[in-house]
Amino acid sequence: MSTLITNIGELVTNAPEQGGSGFAALTGAALVMDNGLVAWTGPASKAPAADEIIDARGRAVLPGFVDSHAHLVFAGERGAEFAARMAGAPYQAGGIASTVAATRHATDPELRAGLSRLAGEMLRQGTTTFECKSGYGLTVADEARSLSLAAEVTPEVTYLGAHIIPPEFAGDRAAYVDLVRGEMLEACAPYARWVDVFCERGAFTADETVAILAAGRAKGLIPRVHANQLGPGPGVQVAVESGAASADHCTHLTGADVAALAGSATVATLLPGVEFSTRQPYPDARGLLAAGATVALATDCNPGSCFTSSMPFCIALAVREMHMTTEEAVWSATAGGARALHRPDVGHLSAGARADLLMLDAPSHAYLAYRPGVPLVTAVWRDAKLSARAKE
Ligand code: NIG
Ligand code: FE
Repeated sequence: MSTLITNIGELVTNAPEQGGSGFAALTGAALVMDNGLVAWTGPASKAPAADEIIDARGRAVLPGFVDSHAHLVFAGERGAEFAARMAGAPYQAGGIASTVAATRHATDPELRAGLSRLAGEMLRQGTTTFECKSGYGLTVADEARSLSLAAEVTPEVTYLGAHIIPPEFAGDRAAYVDLVRGEMLEACAPYARWVDVFCERGAFTADETVAILAAGRAKGLIPRVHANQLGPGPGVQVAVESGAASADHCTHLTGADVAALAGSATVATLLPGVEFSTRQPYPDARGLLAAGATVALATDCNPGSCFTSSMPFCIALAVREMHMTTEEAVWSATAGGARALHRPDVGHLSAGARADLLMLDAPSHAYLAYRPGVPLVTAVWRDAKLSARAKE
């Protein structure tokens, strides 16, 4: 059955044919979807007939958000840690260990319930594609079950056995690195598309990161890296040299890091909800864009450093705090995320794209930053099917 959405005040297409590789939009537009795909876009006055007609009444339609970085398989919560941080305590990677302990104790149904609650939150806020990492199990069995649960809700599954060195390996990190690139990888690779490493002081060194990414690559997984989050370090260079799809966080970059990203296909994925929630300085989005790097925006939804599932919130932060234009921020939250996940089928609304889209209760994309905190996403379609509707 074909569906025509007409009277669209602003249709964000990000279509290459409409102006290079960046943000692109039509006004007074219409869109037809059929068989799960976008079949046609153009002026409302020229729209073809369809089986069903939806009148957007001047509201904006955008590609569904592509959240390319999230940690959704976990148990417990760390609200007290957040409150202490807001009262002056620093953010430390060690907090991850308390979530690891809770996750190991949780049953599969408990983990599945938490995951599905967060996936539902994301969908209602317009996210139609999301990535999901393991990393709170850190045993062969707990990492494998985390990934098998993640694979129930998304194809973008990332093996993050190298999140931290778990407490039981504190005296022998080499043995844990061997496990991550050996038996644990063997058990996890069948469920995953990606391999990630937290390359940071207090987590994994550059050499360990290179070795783990290479082992993952040999098993068919594509690298991505948690890089330069808590301080300057080798993460970005390792990501670029390993041909990673993305270097994520990029909070503390040198000029050489920016140049390396700009000269590579590695996407700089910025996670401004983390800086909001940890009171770190925001990444230099303007410097990255000026150098020509590809920038994606994602939530990093996790119980420690940033517990938001909201791409609209991240867009508002990117505009207000990182000085991205509203167009840049929306592109980075859609097409940029799609680049970071090697997904040419999403993040844009050209004919042939997957019909993953959202309608705002607002006339333009700019309202996502102009009206921060307001639930503007009023309807979401995934594969051309209406998946979430807030109100008429
Ligand atoms: O992306 N940086 C490492 N991992 C998460 C934090 C996880 C946690 O604090 O539980 C992040 O910020
Ligand atoms: Fe993360």
